[in-house]
Amino acid sequence: MRVQKFLASKGHGSRRQVERWVSEGRLKINGKTAQIGDIVNGDESFFLDAQRLYINPKQLSHRHIIYNKNNDEICSRSDPEYKKSVFDALPKIRSMRWVMVGRLDVSTTGLLLFTTDGELANRLMHPSYGIIRHYAVRIYGHPSKSELTSLLKGIVLDDGAAAFLSVKKKASGMANTWYEVTLSEGRKHEVKRLWEAIGYKVNKLIRLGYGEITLPKSLRRGCHQLLNTDEIERLYQSVKLTVKSISKDI
Ligand code: URA
Repeated sequence: MRVQKFLASKGHGSRRQVERWVSEGRLKINGKTAQIGDIVNGDESFFLDAQRLYINPKQLSHRHIIYNKNNDEICSRSDPEYKKSVFDALPKIRSMRWVMVGRLDVSTTGLLLFTTDGELANRLMHPSYGIIRHYAVRIYGHPSKSELTSLLKGIVLDDGAAAFLSVKKKASGMANTWYEVTLSEGRKHEVKRLWEAIGYKVNKLIRLGYGEITLPKSLRRGCHQLLNTDEIERLYQSVKLTVKSISKDI
C-alpha cells in the first residue's frame, strides 16, 4: 500500500498531510527519507521528525469529536503570531492524530469537526461530495432583494464562480442584519468574499452545521464532545463509507 494511504488508515493524519510530510522530507521509513509513491506493508519503522509513529496492528476504532471554536483561535497546529490553536483545546489521544475537517478563519466561531479517520476527513472536505456547510452571518447594512438573489444565482470570485444554496434573513437592527446561509463547498474566506462581492462586510460568522452534524446549543465555546453512534453512522454514509467500529470514549 502507498505510504500515505497506509499511515492515514492507521490514524496518522490524512493522505494529503502525509504527502506533505514526504515532500518536506520529514518522514523516514526504516531510517531513510520517504519518497512520494513509496510502498509499505506495515512492518517498517516510521518516524515523523524525531517522533516514532506507532502502528497499531489491529483494526482501529477511530475517534470523532466536535468542538465549538472560540474567536481568536487558529486552525493550524502552531503559528508564531497567535498563541492559541484549536488543537491545544482537544483531548489528547495516544498514537493517533486529530484531522480537522475544514478550517475556519481566526475570527470565525462555531462548529469544527475532528476525526482520526483521514479518509473520512478527506471525503467530507472534497467538493465532489457536496457536503452542506451552514453559517450564521452578521453583516453591516441591509441588502436589497435583488442583491440577495445575486448571491443565490452565483457571483464570479477571483478563484471562480460561487453561490449560496440558501439565504434566510433572521434578524435586523439599525446597522446590521443577521442571515443564515448554506453552501456546498469550503473555499478560503468564501462566505465573507461572497458578501463583499455585493458590497457588504461580514462582522460576525458562526458555523452552525457541517453535513449531518449540527452545533448543539448546549456545547459551550472552547468545549468539545464526542459524536454519538447515530451521528457517526450518518457522517460515514454521507460520503459512501461504512463504519468499521465505534469507540465509546476518547
Ligand atoms: N467562510 C469564511 O469566509 N470564513 C470562514 O471561516 C468560513 C467560511
